[in-house]
Amino acid sequence: VSLEQLHVGFFTALGMSVVLLVATFVTAKLHKVKAHIATVGVLLVALVTTIYFAGAMGPHYVFEPTSRGIHLPLAFLATAALIAPLATGFLHWRGRVGVKAHKIAVGVWGVALVLALGTGGWMLSAATPVKDLERGAPAASPAATPVGTPAATPTPSPN
Ligand code: HEM
Repeated sequence: VSLEQLHVGFFTALGMSVVLLVATFVTAKLHKVKAHIATVGVLLVALVTTIYFAGAMGPHYVFEPTSRGIHLPLAFLATAALIAPLATGFLHWRGRVGVKAHKIAVGVWGVALVLALGTGGWMLSAATPVKDLERGAPAASPAATPVGTPAATPTPSPN
């Protein structure tokens, strides 16, 4: 698949995740517990799909090391922090913890998610597409140039 197709898949999955996140909040606020749990389930599928497309786009870019070094741990943190609202939501549903614990957990995950999304956008905007490097463009950062790329010796492009 081409990078353009991956972009369509990524932004579609990301957009659906946002819509489902809103639906998760709306159903919770309306006390529609079954609908809330169902939207969380579909949200998880959308999030996994978004992460899959993000990973598939990776080999098409050479990432600038600073933004990559900051985004990757935050993305990992946001994924791990998702356990908190899931676990407290389940426990609150079973009457084991109060809604306050669930709300705090949602907030903690939300902060991690915003940081991961923000730094992800930064990393993508600072990255150089591999196809540009193949056309002889300079890499975003010299340190980001992978060994064996023709960045230093531009080859004339046929188009
Ligand atoms: C990403 C995951 C989740 C998010 C973002 C989320 C978000 C929320 C929010 C914002 C509330 C409203 C709190 C309030 O202001 O009163 C809420 C309530 C609730 N959540 Fe979740 N939740 C998640 C996962 C879950 C799961 C997995 C369960 C159960 C298995 C669950 C069960 C509940 C229940 C029972 C309530 C109370 C609804 C009511 O007040 O009637 N949540 N959730």
